[in-house]
Amino acid sequence: MCGIVGYTGLHQASPILVSGLRRLEYRGYDSAGVAAVEDDRLEVRKRAGRVRALEELLDEMPLHARCGISHTRWATHGPASDRNAHPHLGGRGGRMTVALVHNGVIENHVALRRELEAEGFLFQSQTDTEVIAHLVARELEKADDPFLAVRRALPRLEGTYGLGVVCAGHPGVVVGARFGSPLVVGVGDSEHLLASDAVAIAPHTARVAYLQDGEVVRLTPQDFQIQHLEKGPITPRIDRIDWKPDAVELGGHAHYMLKEIREQPETVTDACRGRLIRAEGTAHFGGLNLSPRQLRRVRRVVFAACGTSWHAAMVGEYLIERLADLPVEVEYASEFRYRNAPLDDRTLVFVLSQSGETADTLGALREARRRGHPTLAIVNTVGSTIAREADGGIYLHAGPEVGVASTKAFSAQVVVLAMLALHLGRLRHLSFPDGMAVLEAIESVPALMGEVLKTEAKIDEAAALMTQARNALYLGRDIHFPVALEGALKLKEISYLHAEGYPTAEMKHGPIALVDRETPCVFVAPKGSLHAKTLSNVEEVKARHGTIIGVGTEGDEGLASLSDIFLPIPEAPEVIQPLLAVVPLQLLAYHVARRRGCDIDKPRNLAKSVTVE
Ligand code: F6R
Repeated sequence: MCGIVGYTGLHQASPILVSGLRRLEYRGYDSAGVAAVEDDRLEVRKRAGRVRALEELLDEMPLHARCGISHTRWATHGPASDRNAHPHLGGRGGRMTVALVHNGVIENHVALRRELEAEGFLFQSQTDTEVIAHLVARELEKADDPFLAVRRALPRLEGTYGLGVVCAGHPGVVVGARFGSPLVVGVGDSEHLLASDAVAIAPHTARVAYLQDGEVVRLTPQDFQIQHLEKGPITPRIDRIDWKPDAVELGGHAHYMLKEIREQPETVTDACRGRLIRAEGTAHFGGLNLSPRQLRRVRRVVFAACGTSWHAAMVGEYLIERLADLPVEVEYASEFRYRNAPLDDRTLVFVLSQSGETADTLGALREARRRGHPTLAIVNTVGSTIAREADGGIYLHAGPEVGVASTKAFSAQVVVLAMLALHLGRLRHLSFPDGMAVLEAIESVPALMGEVLKTEAKIDEAAALMTQARNALYLGRDIHFPVALEGALKLKEISYLHAEGYPTAEMKHGPIALVDRETPCVFVAPKGSLHAKTLSNVEEVKARHGTIIGVGTEGDEGLASLSDIFLPIPEAPEVIQPLLAVVPLQLLAYHVARRRGCDIDKPRNLAKSVTVE
């Protein structure tokens, strides 16, 4: 949620830290700050607001050190203010020796605060983080070794943390620690970086080492050492970041969200690369770690996920039921982890997460594994906690997603689920010709998505109709119901308009009461088995003077004539229609938000990766 960047090397630290924070700003943006060791003294600059505000402060009061830590915050404990911004200082008697940044939540901070206050440590903020700074400072009084002080302080903490620490009198040394909140080391030549996301490191080096829970790292310009709190020294594994260099650049687009929407044909191509096997009319995944025999034994599939990933899982439910004839349940990860959900050894459990760090989804994964149930993950971020802890899984290969509102990761998830359904279907009853038809449909998605993207001007016209509305209804049947949910979520997230998604036919059981001239109804209704029934529901809204935006198959005169604005998608088999129908809904949300002057890539109160419960 919050972002951490640390640097030690031959260059001035603050420009590197600030540009890293800019790349992480999408993770949280209530306040930002930097700390550096200047002439053996700690210097802190921090401010409520965006990274831009911190930059202005640094222009007024520059920092020249070659080593420092920085943070962008998404408030959990204490409101967004200069005082609650990180870094926090630790020390007593007017001598502040530790500056620290923290992602995560410390559950026993109240008791620790009382203990430290009784010993003369004065608190400046309302955050849970400040106790860690003082705990480290207390250890530093006993032994003037930052690496040791952090290792000695950590066992007192209950909760989760990703930490960056610098100490007075130790220029050139950055200490990091991880428990439940991701941290990665960037390995450069005569410089090392620390970050909560490799996105901040990518411009400097492609070589990274992901920290594991319980590990503490000491960085200097020349080298880095990792120690596990219980197991002692660890030999790090160096991985390579394999994104394209421009993956986190705007590249001329007005917003990351728009860039990522437009990138979707390529995203789908990347997600499918090497996985569709024409000779067998099926799809294949290297990382499932289950034999065809084990997969054939499966009698039920459970998906656990949150938000947009949950919507993708719902599309997966329809696809797997249809193609593999298996019952599927889709669970909110936050509910699943605390329920007595029955799981037997013929149930396949998948968690889905774009970030691979969502606390609720990780909790669901851990709960399923605790019960001895092998659990698989569908994840975008390579090396993320969920990816590492799962027994097997499928990567999305969507590249980094920066826009807070997820778009291309949704499409990558859906296409992966379509391939999974095909794979499971072909292991069971699905014939070669039927499998081949699905495979070819999947192959056609990138080009068809490209066609939908060309209709952006028309979608913007629909956005103009919605800009002044206060409520909107999104309606879809069958496989389009989750697409309607996703469309409503996108609108809510970035335009702050209230929107609800419903199965089309459910409308008359309640939501139809909302319909009036001011409430746009977006019908997701490409041609398919239930099309005629959907048109009757559209008529019902028309009869009540509702504004209708129809997303339907090109040439569908019936839907077009009922719609105030008709948004066409190309004719396509039902199994891939969600991938096409979601694009106009994403663009619709984008243009409504743009017209309303909203901050599209950084919507209020949201964070990209939700690492708290
Ligand atoms: C919405 C959105 C969120 C995430 C949810 C789960 O646009 O992005 O609803 O889908 O927070 O995140 P991941 O997929 O990273 O587990």
